[in-house]
Amino acid sequence: MAEQSFSMPAGLTKRERYEQFLSEFAIFIEGEDDLISALANTAAALREAFGFFWVGFYLTKEPEWLHLGPFQGPVACTRIKKERGVCGTAWAKAQTLVVPDVDAFPGHIACSSLSRSEIVVPMMKDGNVIGVLDIDSDQLATFDDVDREGLETLVAILCRII
Ligand code: SME
Repeated sequence: MAEQSFSMPAGLTKRERYEQFLSEFAIFIEGEDDLISALANTAAALREAFGFFWVGFYLTKEPEWLHLGPFQGPVACTRIKKERGVCGTAWAKAQTLVVPDVDAFPGHIACSSLSRSEIVVPMMKDGNVIGVLDIDSDQLATFDDVDREGLETLVAILCRII
């Protein structure tokens, strides 16, 4: 495999960063049908491109529980119950949640006291949620509709190949 860098040139808007990232990522990840390999490289690529504080996946391993999957960043909670926290709520609702201030989200699970805002995108396969992409920031209000659109596109690419 050729060396691949996802570092971004300076001066791009956030939307331009997602556009560049997604076009490179789609080619890079094509054909990687091993779930853990694909998710591990996705977490690393996102962290390199965007410098997120924490980025990773939780996977639905039991009817009511998410288990920690591949991630980049500080160690994290290993189990999250359905409907609990931002991840469990995004799973139960099968919809993306953008949380500008985690302290204002009822039931937020603080894996790190440094986390201030968060976005969680469900991974859909054959109509079911198979996991979630979770990204934490150490700043308030980091995520907006540009992140939601970019990350939902990313997750759709991933869920087509895994
Ligand atoms: N904050 C999440 C828990 C996972 S960590 O952020 C990595 C939640 O409330 O579900």
